[in-house]
Amino acid sequence: MAEVIIVRDQEEAGNAAASLFVEHLKHKPDAVLGLATGSTPLTTYAALASAVREHGLDVSKVRGFALDEYLGIPPEHPQSYRSVITSEVVEPLGLTPSLVMTPRGTGPNVEAAGDEYELAIRAAGGIDVQILGIGTNGHIAFNEPGSSLGSTTRLKALAAQTRADNARFFDSPAEVPSHCITQGLGTIQRARHLVLLAFGTAKAPAVAAALEGPVSASVPGSIVQLHPWATVILDEEAASQL
Ligand code: GLP
Repeated sequence: MAEVIIVRDQEEAGNAAASLFVEHLKHKPDAVLGLATGSTPLTTYAALASAVREHGLDVSKVRGFALDEYLGIPPEHPQSYRSVITSEVVEPLGLTPSLVMTPRGTGPNVEAAGDEYELAIRAAGGIDVQILGIGTNGHIAFNEPGSSLGSTTRLKALAAQTRADNARFFDSPAEVPSHCITQGLGTIQRARHLVLLAFGTAKAPAVAAALEGPVSASVPGSIVQLHPWATVILDEEAASQL
């Protein structure tokens, strides 16, 4: 069972998650970080950037793998996950850009991007610590309900709910891409430590289903119940249906 930590607010959650990341970085200067996009991890990234400065950690060898990328928007697009990871993680933490990967969402034979990414993760020795948010429909990364529990990185269609939730980042809902390349639930389960965060009442049903419901492809977040080392950090609203 996952360890559940309930905190007062997103600030406190960010500090708690960042301190878990710092432990990994202290023990392994070339640690492999699993990075999520969305609004949930932002306080963690900010706290981690402060902690890196405060502890004077050398992060030049730290490696990173984003969970997912939209299909068909170029890396330089402001809403590509490559751009988001660059501005929210790589630059504030001072990571080496070439050591941080995002799945390839454009270019020839994009169907092969998933397998390429799996090989890159394996070549890096696997992910040491993976930060995760959860969608209001229980998705993690872009593994929508119905995703196979053993799935690997692959091309997927986005659920209507997810496109609606993410429309806020685009000029209009029609601009939200319809497909993505996402790490699979099997890929995520191979990360050695999972840190899942959720905030707000809108996430409460998904959190309760993920932590206390049956482990099921209908609730991708329920894979945290299978993981030997999962830490879940929630504010009181997100924890309100536990
Ligand atoms: C997005 C991302 C997920 C993220 C989730 C929740 O679509 N692909 O990695 O965890 O949805 O987003 P937010 O943190 O903004 O609520």
